[in-house]
Amino acid sequence: MDIIRHADLRPYTTFGVPARAEALARFTSADGLRILLNSVQLEGLPRLFLGGGSNVLFTHDWPGVVLLNEVPGIELVREDAQHVWVKAGAGEVWHTFVMHCVEHGWGGVENLALIPGKVGAAPMQNIGAYGVEIKDTFFALEAIRISDGELVTFDREACRFGYRESFFKREGRDQFVILSVTFQLNKAPHTLNTSYGNIQQELEQRGITTPTIRDVSEAVIAIRRSKLPDPARLGNAGSFFKNPVVEPGVLEAIKATHPDVVAYPAEGGYKLAAGWLIERAGWKGHRRAGCGVHDRQALVLVNHGTATGSEVYALSSDIVHSVQERFGVELEREVNIL
Ligand code: FAD
Ligand code: EPU
Repeated sequence: MDIIRHADLRPYTTFGVPARAEALARFTSADGLRILLNSVQLEGLPRLFLGGGSNVLFTHDWPGVVLLNEVPGIELVREDAQHVWVKAGAGEVWHTFVMHCVEHGWGGVENLALIPGKVGAAPMQNIGAYGVEIKDTFFALEAIRISDGELVTFDREACRFGYRESFFKREGRDQFVILSVTFQLNKAPHTLNTSYGNIQQELEQRGITTPTIRDVSEAVIAIRRSKLPDPARLGNAGSFFKNPVVEPGVLEAIKATHPDVVAYPAEGGYKLAAGWLIERAGWKGHRRAGCGVHDRQALVLVNHGTATGSEVYALSSDIVHSVQERFGVELEREVNIL
């Protein structure tokens, strides 16, 4: 069991802000995890589980142990005439898993190409992009209950998925470690989802009229690269806030002064484009000390190299106040603040 003391956490997060952990360790199996949970050397230390660190912001040092989930494996567990059931280890890189599915002709996750992070964190916030969420192909997951080390299986209903939400982000927070996720994917002929955003336009520009799942994944990758900053060059954690869902009256009030507000019908009312709200409140491209608001996507806060987590958090608070004042809408952070 390798335990690193006073570990620098910068290499393990995409925001890259300075932070240290009392200790850091890795595990690659359920048994490896149980050993760490029972370790005398780590006794009493608060635990934090990380995958790729692409949805966290450290605002201070972590006064405990960071446990890196590196459980490997992608396995075809069952198939019938139309479907395959594929189980992936929590430590697999999400994009590698998506490309593995595309290679094998398994449809359903191609719109989720290039989302950073690991498979195990994907159910945490029901990752989504370009009209698809993982709940759409999710079959089950296995997790270790931290209190007693037991392996527990969760089906889709038990995960209580919502928009960037799940049981694991709410009631089950800090109680389970996800070890593997099984997806139910489709064999050809595939039903493609190309209606969201400019996927269709991107395909047309490429002269593609009958797209394959690979074509869709490549179009999504191109669109994402054109908008979102690459964390290897500019620290960030993707969308910093959720797109707020508001009642119809709130949308009407905003429309009265801003007829071009971007909104989509959603359960409970309308989902507003937070990027639009933030841009219209004047923050797009704003730069302060080492951090700022991305100049191509106002929903993404960035570390220009020298930001601290507290500075990024303070900037996010100013944005929340400003959007509240201007539009009467409260933004909720999507990134996990530590
Ligand atoms: P981490 O940041 O390591 O962890 C996130 C949270 O999950 C933490 O609370 C952690 O404790 C917990 N956790 C991690 N692994 C486990 C586990 N195995 N068991 C239990 N708890 C665990 N998200 C989207 O939904 N859609 C997007 O389009 C999108 N685009 C992004 C673009 C960029 C450039 C970036 C940087 C991020 C983007 N994200 C997006 C956010 C991020 O990629 C996802 O939230 C991803 O699922 C995080 O994975 P991770 O392994 O990095 O999680
Ligand atoms: N917009 C602006 N200004 C901006 C940014 C966006 O006006 O600076 C408006 C535009 O009108 C645009 C609309 O907002 O058409 C939507 O923008 P975009 O398509 O970029 O998507 P988003 O709503 O900003 C969401 C997700 C992303 C996901 C994309 C694509 C959330 C919080 N974010 O962003 O997820 O990749 O859709 O599906 O739901 C993430 O969660 O980290 C993430 C990046």
